[in-house]
Amino acid sequence: MTLELATAGESHGPALVAIVSGLPAGLALGKDAIDADLRRRQQGYGRSPRQQIETDEVEVLAGLRHGRTLGSPLAFVVRNRDHKNWTWGMSPWPPEGEPEGKGTKPVTVPRPGHADLAGVQKYGFADVRDALERASARHTAVQVAAGAVAKALLREVGIEVAGEALPEAGADPATVDAARKERDTLGGRVEVRARCVPPGLGSYARREDRLDARLAAALMGIQAVKAVEIGDGLSLADLRGSDAHDEIFRDDKGLHRETNRAGGIEGGVSNGEEVVVRAAMKPLPTLMRPLRSVDLQTGEAADALVERSDVSAVEALAVVAEASVAWELARAAREKFGGDALGDFVTAWRAYLERIDWAPR
Ligand SMILES: Cc1cc2nc3c(=O)[nH]c(=O)nc-3n(C[C@H](O)[C@H](O)[C@H](O)COP(=O)(O)O)c2cc1C
Repeated sequence: MTLELATAGESHGPALVAIVSGLPAGLALGKDAIDADLRRRQQGYGRSPRQQIETDEVEVLAGLRHGRTLGSPLAFVVRNRDHKNWTWGMSPWPPEGEPEGKGTKPVTVPRPGHADLAGVQKYGFADVRDALERASARHTAVQVAAGAVAKALLREVGIEVAGEALPEAGADPATVDAARKERDTLGGRVEVRARCVPPGLGSYARREDRLDARLAAALMGIQAVKAVEIGDGLSLADLRGSDAHDEIFRDDKGLHRETNRAGGIEGGVSNGEEVVVRAAMKPLPTLMRPLRSVDLQTGEAADALVERSDVSAVEALAVVAEASVAWELARAAREKFGGDALGDFVTAWRAYLERIDWAPR
């Protein structure tokens, strides 16, 4: 039993689409909670005006009845309200009538830092838009909705996941204002913490089952993330072993640690401490002061396409990273505890905690 997420959708197409399979039946989902996370993803200082056009909300098509999952695939869409300006440009079928709205002219100058150039080369496109529409981080909207579903499942067993932007670079309003003035962009760092994760999620047995590897892949899978750190991560490399590990103690409540340098994961397995993961985001690659590029049609030097764009999206990244960590933890929990009905899942969870005599502190 595992959780799976399949998605489709282009940035300016009619909608983003997702199918989540592997949920137990009987899980209560709230539209308000999912929409609240979608709204959080759209906020943050330094976002582009597109966020005012899009008021994302989830529309469930299957797998849910009267607010409870049926155990069948959960299908949902998040519509792109901006699509009304792109109906000709993003028409799935050969468009009829005169070109109108946006996206009617081919994009021939790839933007450095985006998938534009590699995308047209790889897929044989003449119009960069054919690559950039799917490569866009607009797609993270459905990841956030799926993460909200994962958080609802985790909450049933007491796990809370929270992401935040670290207060530097693109999360600092003064730095964002200065960058906007100079028509530049920023990156930044985010941190996600998961509380009350029991020991035993993930496994050392196979590389692909390691929880640290799965969390790193999930965060690296988000656009613009260029580094991931578990616990004290990078800085551990500079320490001696005597300063780098979390020694084990016992008191009347059981086994415990006094430090958490490992970020709650040892040997690819959660160890009962808070799971702590950080991700670093590069400065966004679309600048209002365009970077230099080449027109693929003429071969001449040209300024990269300037499309409405964020100065910073680090606060949005915190929401996407939170969703991605929640998703991976929920997936690892489904693999360990299974169950067709929510009650089966929760019962297996409780029996395991009893066996290892563990309770969150
Ligand atoms: C939530 C979020 C919003 C983003 N918004 C923008 C944006 O407005 N402009 C931009 O150039 N890049 C934006 N990006 C980053 C690009 O999507 C990303 O850099 C690009 O797809 C290339 O992928 P890579 O950086 O992973 O190589 C955003 C990323 C995230 C996670």
